[in-house]
Parts: sequence; structure tokens; C-alpha cells
Amino acid sequence: MRTDDAPLIRLEDYRPSDWLIDTVDLDISLHPTQTRVRSLLALRPNPAGQTDAPLVLDGDELALKALSLDGEPLDASAYAAGPQGLTLHAPPRRGFTLTIETEIDPAANTKLMGLYRSSRVYCTQCEADGFRRITYFLDRPDVMSVYTVRLEAAKAEAPVLLSNGNLVATGEVPGSDRHFALWHDPHPKPAYLFALVGGALDHVRQDYVTADGRKVELAVYVEPGKAGRAGWALDSLVRCMRWDEKVFGRNYDLDVFNVVAVSDFNMGAMENKGLNIFNDKYVLADPQTATDGDYASIEAIIAHEYFHNWTGNRITCRDWFQLCLKEGLTVFRDQEFSSDERSRPVKRIADVRTLRSTQFSEDAGPLAHPVRPRAYKEINNFYTPTVYEKGAEVIRMLKVLIGDDAFKRGMDLYFERCDGTAATIEEFLACFAESSGRDLSHFARWYEQAGTPAIVASGRYDAAEQRYTLDLAQSTPPTPGQAEKEPMVLPVRLGLVGTEGDLPLRTQSNAYAGDGLVVLDGPSLSIAFEGVTEPPIPSLLRGFSAPARLELDLSEADLLRQFTRDSDSFNRWQALQSIATRALVAAGRPGADSGALGATAAELGRALDGFLAADALADPAFAAQVLRLPAPADIAREIGKAVDPDAIFAAHRALSTAIGSALLPRLSGLRQALETKGPYRADSASAGRRALRNELLGLAALAAPADGAALCEQQFETGDNLTDRLAALAAMTLIPGERRERLIARFAEAYAGEPLVLDKWLMAQALIAEPATLERVRELMRHPAFSLGNPNRVRALIGGFAANLTQFNRADGAGYGFVADIVIALDRTNPQVASRLLGSFKSWRMLEPGRRRQAQEALGLVARTPNLSRDVSDIAERALA
Ligand code: ARG
Ligand code: ZN
Repeated sequence: MRTDDAPLIRLEDYRPSDWLIDTVDLDISLHPTQTRVRSLLALRPNPAGQTDAPLVLDGDELALKALSLDGEPLDASAYAAGPQGLTLHAPPRRGFTLTIETEIDPAANTKLMGLYRSSRVYCTQCEADGFRRITYFLDRPDVMSVYTVRLEAAKAEAPVLLSNGNLVATGEVPGSDRHFALWHDPHPKPAYLFALVGGALDHVRQDYVTADGRKVELAVYVEPGKAGRAGWALDSLVRCMRWDEKVFGRNYDLDVFNVVAVSDFNMGAMENKGLNIFNDKYVLADPQTATDGDYASIEAIIAHEYFHNWTGNRITCRDWFQLCLKEGLTVFRDQEFSSDERSRPVKRIADVRTLRSTQFSEDAGPLAHPVRPRAYKEINNFYTPTVYEKGAEVIRMLKVLIGDDAFKRGMDLYFERCDGTAATIEEFLACFAESSGRDLSHFARWYEQAGTPAIVASGRYDAAEQRYTLDLAQSTPPTPGQAEKEPMVLPVRLGLVGTEGDLPLRTQSNAYAGDGLVVLDGPSLSIAFEGVTEPPIPSLLRGFSAPARLELDLSEADLLRQFTRDSDSFNRWQALQSIATRALVAAGRPGADSGALGATAAELGRALDGFLAADALADPAFAAQVLRLPAPADIAREIGKAVDPDAIFAAHRALSTAIGSALLPRLSGLRQALETKGPYRADSASAGRRALRNELLGLAALAAPADGAALCEQQFETGDNLTDRLAALAAMTLIPGERRERLIARFAEAYAGEPLVLDKWLMAQALIAEPATLERVRELMRHPAFSLGNPNRVRALIGGFAANLTQFNRADGAGYGFVADIVIALDRTNPQVASRLLGSFKSWRMLEPGRRRQAQEALGLVARTPNLSRDVSDIAERALA
């Protein structure tokens, strides 16, 4: 179906289901190409629905084999069945059962939605609407049922058979080579949380006792031979379960909790009740095949999916417009978990980097949408940084605004009141309005209004009166469908930084700001701080207290002072980022002269040198963040119009190189001091040392390429872990020439047979900022390590290329054409991966006219392709609108 024909689904059109399904009994006989599904549904009219309605069950590419009502085969005139649905024209106006038989072909399911086979393993992905690809159903999250699932398969092919809930029985199928497993999940759930797994899998397991005394068997299932790489995921699971008990008072509620890693997966992972299914990239880890970054993301995603058990499963969403109800909240929860497990300030900096690069850019382009969208054509296109990451920021702001205590009581109330229901954002917010005694109706605008607010701040110091006056004003740029914007509720955490640190905050009324929090909820605000004994530096949005852009015109000298004296580590980091950003924006603008960059480079070099001398070893992870400049894409977004990626990149390269040169004398000593002794350990302190060491390696590669190349070679050959060896490869990609090509070849040799490691190898090459990269990527598509059929491979190589600012945005348009062609080809097999990739065009409107024209042409080429999926045509149309 073309999107133009696809109906626009609107939040305001929500109606409860006319029918409910209390229980589902599934009998699934697994076969690679002919899987039989028998589904017994106990239906009844919904008291909240219409009584005279027909029964319309959803389907997607289904074939009906048999149908009976209360055990009696149905006459063909009583229903209409097709691939996309099953309608009973005149269902009984009472409770009844339907038995539906369908047959599906898991091996042919390249969309990886519904039931499919990935490297000989049967698995499912049903969110958002994949269950209807297994059997006809009321596939909507507000229809919640108790599932009993019998799985049957050939013993040799699928010795392991898993589904949701608890295992009830297993056994042989007499007279055959088949066996079965019976699973029962007592918790009513929507169909999108259904899952099954069947295959030959190894596992690691551990017993766990919840805080309220339930014995739980935890297990992580992986491909045969990979059990040695499952330990970190299992360990992370145990830690996040304890954490959820301690911090949110949430206990697990089944006797088993299973995690399964599969190698073909559209997203990161899925929180199916009691049976989380993961992209293996977010499960498998050992020092030789996973980086520190992988260890951290595995920990975070294991936690994310586990936390969904309460925020998502026990309390689910009434409809898909409420997606942020579970996703924003669960991202917030996993961020908090990682902050407690690791360094809170460093985690915040990393999260804000991600937010800015993914969400701010989405908000600034044609795909911008509110945290709770009002309408969609394809819901799978709304699993976005806005719903997830900005959704988490909204929860974070709520906590700042009402305070930790009221936030905790609000969460408790939510868990108590909404448990077992399919809820809405309104119900969620009502809990916090109640716990805090506040009116949150204005705050709720965060769910409705798209776009990144800008805060313009300026200050005046009156020495005679010892008064500092701070003026704040806000505005939000227009976004698609929202030309006019209302003021948002912006919690601004702040301090005044003096020569000896923070100054006391006193205002005339002391009505606010005494605790360092000012709430900007109108167009503007002015606050006078009294008794200010010296001209202060305002430190605003401490901890990044609101997802906004801050425009504050501090001098370079003030920012440097802030970097050394601010008590807020986020703003210390931000101060240097601001210096770099300002200089890069100036130098990267069309027609800019890069003269001013030299002065800033010298200043930054001096500041960083002093910082490294004094502080680097105290907190290497923080130091690594300080050293890392804003990415060229961040600068492009700051410039915002007539963007010339080459100019920005050149400025960025020049600044990095100059900083590298300034640090060169200190580099080898510091790298030595940072070396971790003994075998690899994944803990965050060791990871922090490696991060800083490798940040320095990158700078060395730019500032002294010949020595840098030797360092890379040496680190690659002697490194005992993937973090260091990959960092060596990444740094080497900055140095054109023979040695680079040799290391690239060495890497491929060393990791042959390790697809997840070779993904990183593919991506490192796709990111090389040189014109030959496009040809290199084309060649790599023919490398045995690549396959268009596997989402991880596509994201690594093609997604990597699309993230290469200068090469995707080549002036001749060849980068756009290349990616557009792949989107079109991929759409025939996997529309979700194709539409994600097409999302790489989201910033095309801010480009200079030549590139903009080229990008528009490529998008047009996609949009005009016949028989596009709804996924891809929706993105193409919105991008071009
Ligand atoms: N609920 C999953 C998570 O956040 C994401 C699944 C999204 N899947 C999809 N096909 N859109 O962990
Ligand atoms: Zn999630």
C-alpha cells in the first residue's frame, strides 16, 4: 500500500475495542517454511464498546486454513478472510470462542516482523504490529489476554522451546521426531508482548531471589559455542533487578526470566514478557570481541528491557500514541541505573551528546514530531529519539520540578493505580499532580509541542548595588504542522560562579532560585540576585536540566574560568564545548575566514594542557569527554542553514589537529600513566582510562601522523582487548596511506569469523572523511563480511556511510544517490531497516542550495518508486513535505 493511500491514524479518533479477548491458547507447530498456528480465542463484547459491531481481526500476509466458532466450523458466508484481516459479519452478542488456523513461512519472512528464522533459530518480533503476521487477532495494546502456548518442533532442529511466562510441561510427541513445551503466562498482556523462540541454543543461568522472596531462574540463551560471551549480560541482569527493587521498589513477577540473543534483529531488543529477545550485538561480550562501549550498552539495554516489565508490561500503553509512556520512562530508568553503576556526570554528558546529535537534529528537520505524536501512518517510524530520548528528558524535568520526594511518591502511585492496565500520559501525569499538589497542565505541553526550545540569557552586574540581574527568554522554532509555539515549562538549574566557587543565591523575595532552580514558564523572566560581591559567571542549565538550546554570550575568558571553577561538572564540560562550538561555527560558516580559529585553538590547547596536567588521572572518563570536541554534525546543526559540510569538517580537523599539537609533549607520558595493568576488566574506572588514552591516540594521529601511525600499529599488535585494538584502527583511519590499508587488512584477518567485530571494521571504513570512501563502501558491499540481509551489517556499513558528514553529503550528490538506491533495494525485503536508513536524509533542508537540490532529487527518486512499503513512503513524503 502506498502511504498516500494509507489512512492517517489520529489520537483523537481513539475508541475502545468493541471486543475483548480474555484468553488465548496458541498451538504452534514449528517448521521452517510451513509453520501451523492454531489459536483459540475466548472473546466477549467490551462493555465500553459498540454492541452491534462486526468482529474485525487484524492480519498481515496471512492465509486462513480453518475457522470455527464455539467448536463448530463456520459457514463461508459468515466471514470474510484475506491476507490483511478476518471479519465476522454477525458475531454472537455474548462470549464465544473462535478457533483460527493459519499457516506461515518463517524462512521467507525477511521483514523480521512476526515469526521468522534467524541463523536457524525461530524467533518473533511483535511490537508494534507483528502479531497479526502470526495469526488473526485484535492486535492493539489495549486488548490484554492471558496466554497459554504450546510449541512443537523437531527435537534436533529446536531442542530449546521458549515462550512467555512459566514452563508448565514438556514432552515427546509419540511416534515422531518432535517434542513440545507448554508455557503459561498468568499476566494479561497485549499481543505485542507475545514471543516464542525455538532452536539449538546454549545458555548460562543463575538463580535469583527477589526482595519479596520469589525464586527466579534467570537464563541467557545464545548461539551454540557462544555461552562464554553471555556472562556479562547475565551479570547485568542480576544487578539491574536488585537496583529496581532498591530504587523503584519493583520486584520481578514470574518464576523464570529468559533472554535470547539472535543475529538478525531490526532494533536493539524487545521486552516480551519473561522472554526478552535481543539483537546479539547487545548481549554477546568478551574482552576480545566487545569494546568498553559495548559492555556499557549491553548493561544499559539489558536493564532497559528488564525495566519494561513494570513500565511497559505490567502497565502498558492504551494506544501507540502513548508509546513514550513506556519508552521515555524506561529510558529514564535505564539512564539512572547506568548513572548509579558508573559515573553520573560522565553518563549525563554522554546522554546529552546523544540527545543533541540524534534528537535535536530530528527536531530541527522535516521529521520533527511531538513526544506524543497526534497522527501517524506507520507507527514503526515513531520509535524515534524524540519518543525515547526526549521522552526521558521530560521525565527528568518532571523530577527536577516537583522534587525527588514527590517524584517517588508519584511513581509509587502510578504503579499502584495503573498496574494491569493500558494507560495514557494523562493518567501518568495525574499521579504526579496528586503527589506534588501541583497543576501539571502547562508542563504537559512537553508531550504536545515539537521543536527544541531556545533560551536566550543575558546578565548585568551592578557593582554599587551588589546586584546581578539575569534575563531569560524562550522561544521554540516552528516545526511541521506547528507554526506557532507556546512557551514551555523550562526548569533552569543555575548557580553564580565567583572566583572562589559558587556564590550564595539570594533574591529580593527569595520566592525562587534559593535552591538553584528557576522555572522559566513564560516568554521571559528577569531575576535580581542580591548581595553578589563580585561579577559572577552565570552557570545555567546545570546538569542539562532542560532539553533546550542555551544562547548565552560569555567571553572566551569567562568560559575558561567556568571550566576551572564551576561546581557543576556538566557545565565545566559544556564551557569548553561552547568555546569550540563558537569557533567552529564561525569558521565553518559559508565564506568564513578561519583566521580566528588559530587563537581559539591556542587558548583551548593551553587550557586542556593545564587540565590534563592537574586532573586527568583523577577522572579519566571525564577528561576523555572534555577532550572530545563537538562533532562536525553538531556544528552543522548550530549553523542551521546553507550548511557546507566540507567547510565545517575542515575547521573541525584544523582545531583538533592544533589541540593535538598543543598536547603532544604530554602525550606519551600521560598515555603511559593511563595504562591499565593486568588482564582486561570491563569496570567503568578501567574503561575511563582506556577512553582517555585512546582519545589521546586520535589526537596524536592528527598532530603527528608518522609517529601516530606507529603508535596505532603498536597498540593494535600488543592490545589484549577489542577496545584498544579498535581505537588503534579508528585512529589509523585518520592517516591516509599504505600503513592504514595494511592495518585495515590485518584487522580483517584477526577477526575473520567474528561478524559483530567486523561490523565495527566496516563502519570505521565507512566513516573515513575522504572522497574515495564511496568507492570503498561499494567494494565492501562485495566483501563476505557484508550482507544486505542482516540489519547489523547494513547499519554498520551503509548506516556508517550515511553518518559520514562529508561523504554522504558529497557535493556531486553521489552519496545521496548511493544511499537512496540501497533504500529502494532494501525496501523489498526489509522495509523497517530501509526506512531507518532513509531517515539519514532528515537534515537535508539545512544544506547549501547545491547539496539541497541533490538530496531532494534522491528523496524524490525514492518517493516515486512504485510499490514502496508504507514505512519508506511515509518517511520520504514527510521528508519532502
Ligand atoms: N520496545 C522495544 C524497546 O524499546 C523496541 C521495539 C521496537 N520495534 C519496532 N519494530 N518498532 O526496547
Ligand atoms: Zn524500550
